[in-house]
Amino acid sequence: MVSRVIPVETFDLVIFGATGDLATRKIFPGLYRRFWAGQIPPESRIIGAARSDMTPEGFREQVRKAIDEFVSTDKKDAATIDAFLGRIGYVPIDAKGTGGWDKLKAEMRPGVVSAFYFSVAPALFGDLAERLHSFEIATPESRIVVEKPFGRDLASARALNATLAAHFREEQIYRIDHYLGKETVQNLMAVRFANILFEPLWNSQYVDHVQITVAETVGVGGRGSYYDKSGAMRDMVQNHMMQLLCLIAMEPPYHFDPNAVRDEKLKVIRALDPVRPEDIVRGQYARQNGQPGYIEDSENPQSRTESYIALKVHISNWRWKGTPFYLRTGKKLRARASEIAITFREPPHSIFDDAAGWRENVLTIRLQPNEGMNLMVMIKEPGPGGMRLTQVPLDMSFAEALGEEGADIPDAYERLIMDVIRGNQTLFMRGDEVEAAWAWTDPIIGGWESSEDRPKPYDPGSSGPDDSLMLMHRDGRRWREIRE
Ligand code: BG6
Repeated sequence: MVSRVIPVETFDLVIFGATGDLATRKIFPGLYRRFWAGQIPPESRIIGAARSDMTPEGFREQVRKAIDEFVSTDKKDAATIDAFLGRIGYVPIDAKGTGGWDKLKAEMRPGVVSAFYFSVAPALFGDLAERLHSFEIATPESRIVVEKPFGRDLASARALNATLAAHFREEQIYRIDHYLGKETVQNLMAVRFANILFEPLWNSQYVDHVQITVAETVGVGGRGSYYDKSGAMRDMVQNHMMQLLCLIAMEPPYHFDPNAVRDEKLKVIRALDPVRPEDIVRGQYARQNGQPGYIEDSENPQSRTESYIALKVHISNWRWKGTPFYLRTGKKLRARASEIAITFREPPHSIFDDAAGWRENVLTIRLQPNEGMNLMVMIKEPGPGGMRLTQVPLDMSFAEALGEEGADIPDAYERLIMDVIRGNQTLFMRGDEVEAAWAWTDPIIGGWESSEDRPKPYDPGSSGPDDSLMLMHRDGRRWREIRE
């Protein structure tokens, strides 16, 4: 299967925070890969902007190193790299002052798509938005891209939305949740809404429960003091896992259109029940074999921040009443594995003896790694004996099924930045969506902050604290094994 690459329009893209970690690891390598693929017209320009006083040549050398480190060898050739670097400029800028802004204005070309990527601390969003406006750099068609964290609670998210809204319309604001840029996450919508097969069963009458797991093997070492102010609930659940939950639970939008999709997601968030404290388990990875535990990594001996969380969530609407969604995510777990598993109910009546053996149908969508789908179905155990049943997988790896194209999945940022240029907001969070997610999260976090509650320790390389097993056992269910 040959991948189709449709070039975007010529653009001027300014990256604020161009010397930062995200720009180095994701944004520039991602843009290079799109350039290599022929999606970025050669007349486009990418302008780095940051505090450092650097020449454009010096900056281009930095980008060259980033490409060297973060792009795979099969996509690197000297001529393409030089051509890409030839499209890159740099302007030292004072986000809180006036330095550099006139120079930046001079770099922008009228008549091409303009976008401004705020890859900086949220405290600077307001300053950047204001200056883009007062120096008349942004036009009514310009787009701004903002990174997470989008606030740390409802009040701060509202304040951020208001700050941006003072200078930009909602149609110009692209709030990134990089999970939405993952190919397999978008596949959730394709699987649900491009097949007749699943949708009739996609409700509490047929679905017993849903498990959403995002497990990581890395700890928080290196970013511990930042992470400690956040924790798994703010870092992963309020945004990435919430988005996964929405895509699984939402009603079919009338069209694959930005606002139609986001309207449906918003309805799911608004239908979430408050979570009972007994339905939440928080954990912190322990010290092991001389390896620092969370407490050391966070550099906060008193830390009560969770590096793991499991919770049971209910959605109060017609479709889902009575079907629990179990969510869990954590650092330093036994494998890096993200998946969504839909467990279906028993058939209403079994015509086979109990001894024949029966197990539930489970549809698993593997988000990463080994992206694919698996449906566990019952068949007859082969052989001349009586009628005995056995469970077998209908297993599909996207890489195998789609060949080269399936194996070469673009990074989330590549997709998302191209969508910004295309002016397509479907995979970006709308302001009201983010606020609704915080409105649900705030009381949960508030409950921990006002109690003496401490996360439970768990061993690195395990599946999380033992209490999280109880969360399922209590309901007569089990977590799926975390494995790649
Ligand atoms: C980020 C979180 O948003 O997502 C990190 O801040 C987390 O803590 C990361 O590790 C996970 O992303 P991915 O794409 O590696 O699953």
